[in-house]
Amino acid sequence: MDRMNIGLVGIGVMGQNLTLNIERNGFSVAVYDRAEGKVADFLAGKAKGKRISGAGNVGEFAERLERPRRIILLVNAGKPVDDVIDHLKPHLEKGDIVLDGGNSFFKDTERRSALLEKDGIHFVGSGVSGGEEGALKGPAIMPGGAREAYDALAPVLTKIAAYVKDDPCCAYIGPRGAGHYVKMVHNGIEYAIMQLIGEAYDVLRTGLKATAPEIAAFFREWNKGDLDSYLFEITAKVLSKLDPETGKPLVDLILDTAEQKGTGKWTSQNAFDLGVPIPTINAAVEMRMLSSLKDQRMKAAGILRGPAAAAGIVSSFVNDVRDALHASIITSYAQGMALLSAASAEYQYALKLDEIASLWRGGCIIRSRMLAPIREAFARTPAPANMMLDQYFADKLNELQPAWHRAVETAVRYGIPVLATGASLSYYDACRRDRLPANLLQGQRDFFGAHTYRRTDREGVFHTKWDE
Ligand code: 6PG
Repeated sequence: MDRMNIGLVGIGVMGQNLTLNIERNGFSVAVYDRAEGKVADFLAGKAKGKRISGAGNVGEFAERLERPRRIILLVNAGKPVDDVIDHLKPHLEKGDIVLDGGNSFFKDTERRSALLEKDGIHFVGSGVSGGEEGALKGPAIMPGGAREAYDALAPVLTKIAAYVKDDPCCAYIGPRGAGHYVKMVHNGIEYAIMQLIGEAYDVLRTGLKATAPEIAAFFREWNKGDLDSYLFEITAKVLSKLDPETGKPLVDLILDTAEQKGTGKWTSQNAFDLGVPIPTINAAVEMRMLSSLKDQRMKAAGILRGPAAAAGIVSSFVNDVRDALHASIITSYAQGMALLSAASAEYQYALKLDEIASLWRGGCIIRSRMLAPIREAFARTPAPANMMLDQYFADKLNELQPAWHRAVETAVRYGIPVLATGASLSYYDACRRDRLPANLLQGQRDFFGAHTYRRTDREGVFHTKWDE
C-alpha cells in the first residue's frame, strides 16, 4: 500500500476542512481521531473518492505515513494535545515531525518541543487562523519550531495557505513557541478590533439611534477604503441579517454576553509579564468579562444613573466614529507589534515583524488593507520605538486625532461605554506626552515607603522626609 504524505489527527470541522485543503493541493492524507465513528463518517462523506484514508488505531495510522512522518494535530488546546502526543509518541521515530495547529499556549508548546526534541522528534507549534472557511480555502499559517522541520513542511504549508497575489500567507516564524506566541498576539489584536467595532456600533445604535441595517451600510462603505478588512466585511453581514422568524435584525436578538477561549487573556497576562502596555487589548478582554456580568448589569440599570438619554447627536458624528475606529485600530496593531518586539528579545524568537505583517494580510481574522503599510513600516525600520512613529502612521494619526477626540468626548457625554476606544486614545495621548503625572506618583511612593525618586535637574537617587 502506498504511504500517505501527511497524517492528520483530530477531524472536527477544522480538521476535516484542512484535510480536504491538503488533498486538493495534491497531497495524500491519512486521518485519525480517537472518537470512534468520526473517521468512518468522514470517509463515507466529504472525503469520499479522495486520496484520504482512515486509520482505526494509532499504530496503523503511524504505519501508513511516509518517513519522516509529517503529522498535523488539530485537537483542542490544553490536555487533549498532551494526550494525543502521549498516544502517538511510542509509534514515532527520530526525524518525524508533529505540528500542533490548535490555539495552544506558547509555553505549553515550549515544554512539548523540549520533551519531543529529546527523542529527536520535531515539534512545530503553528498558529492557524481563518476559521472553518480558512482551513478549507486557505488559512494564514504561523509555524514555529526547528527550522529543518519547517523546511520539511513548507512545500505543503505554503501550498495550502491563503495567498495575497503571489505571496503565501505562511512563513517560518521562529524557534520553539514562536508560532503560537504570534498567533496569541494575533488573537489579542482580533479581540481589540472586535471590541472597537462593537463600541462604534454601540455609539451609532444608542447615540445616533441608527438601526442595525443602517449601521451595516456604514460598515460596507468604510470597508471600501483604508479600513477594508475581513472584520468589517463580516460585521456588515452580521448587522444585515434578519431573523427569519421575527423579521427583526438577528443581532438585536442575540444575548449580549461575550464568551472567550483564553487567547486574548493570555496576551494581556503575558504583556504584564513583559511590561508592555497594550491597553486596547486589555480593555477588550475586560469588556468581555464585563459583558458576562449580565445579572449585575440588569440590576444596576435600575439603580445607577447616567447622563440624560442621547439626543441631538448630529449625523456628521458618523464620520467621527469612523475616524475614531480607524485611529484606534492603528493603535491596536501598534500595541500588538510592540508586544511581539519585546517578546522577540525576551524569548530569543528573532521575529521578523515585516514578514508577520505580510502573512497576516490574507487568510486570517485580522487581515486588512492596513497590514500592507504596516509591513512597509517594519521593512523600513525593523525595530521602531513604536509603529505610531512611522511617518505614514504618524501622518494618519495626526489627521484622525481631532475626530477621534470628538467621538470619545461625545460617547462619554452620553454615557456610552467606550473602554477600548478611550484606552486607544489615551494610549496615543500618553505616548506623545513628554511628561506624565508619574512624578507625583513617585513622590507618593517615596512618602509612604521611602522608595526614592530621581530628579529632572540632577543625577542621583533622592529621598525626602515629606512630613517635616
Ligand atoms: C482565528 C481565530 C480562532 C478562534 C478564536 C476565537 O484566528 O481563526 O482567532 O482561532 O475563532 O480562538 O477566540 P475566542 O473564542 O476566545 O473569541
